[in-house]
Amino acid sequence: MDLLDAGCGRGDFTNRLHQLFGFHKSLGIDFATAMLEVADGDYGQIPGLSFANVDLSQILPFENNKFDVSLALNILHHLLPDDQQNLIAELCRITKAIIVVEIKQPHILWRIRGGYRAFGYLQFYPSEIQLIEKLFLEQGYGLVATKPIFHFAAFSPIVLLIFKPTESNK
Ligand SMILES: C[S@@+](CC[C@H](N)C(=O)[O-])C[C@H]1O[C@@H](n2cnc3c(N)ncnc32)[C@H](O)[C@@H]1O
Repeated sequence: MDLLDAGCGRGDFTNRLHQLFGFHKSLGIDFATAMLEVADGDYGQIPGLSFANVDLSQILPFENNKFDVSLALNILHHLLPDDQQNLIAELCRITKAIIVVEIKQPHILWRIRGGYRAFGYLQFYPSEIQLIEKLFLEQGYGLVATKPIFHFAAFSPIVLLIFKPTESNK
């Protein structure tokens, strides 16, 4: 089984999941060279685990169905809406079995403020679950589980979504 961690940052999750589930090969990709250097320094020596510089807003340089499981944790809302759509289509193209995305929904307080600036300088592009679900469905992937990361779902703008190929796409 092969794992892709799209937007791996410092590679901590890539490493944890690689070890926990015993993936044959796990690849973390990101476009931040400094992050990749840390990931490579900390985990690059672990058998089967590697990291590469890839821009998630482009066509991903992998063949169809290359990975069994793909992750995009805490990534989508950092991309422009068109790039989010591209990444979802690309993940569906290169993944065989399971895709896990962690999304940030527009928080009620941000809506009241009328903007999405979280810290005054960092621009976010949050998405509703329904939109993300629709984009996956268009690519033949259905939503099978939703997990808010905070206990009270209504107060949890951050949600994990798990997708699998729909019956007609198997
Ligand atoms: C908030 S961090 C999340 C890191 C990791 N997935 C986690 O959950 O800890 C967002 C990551 O997305 C990466 N990123 C943002 N836009 C990207 C792009 N267009 N291509 C590749 N990586 C990107 C950043 O470099 C950063 O490492």
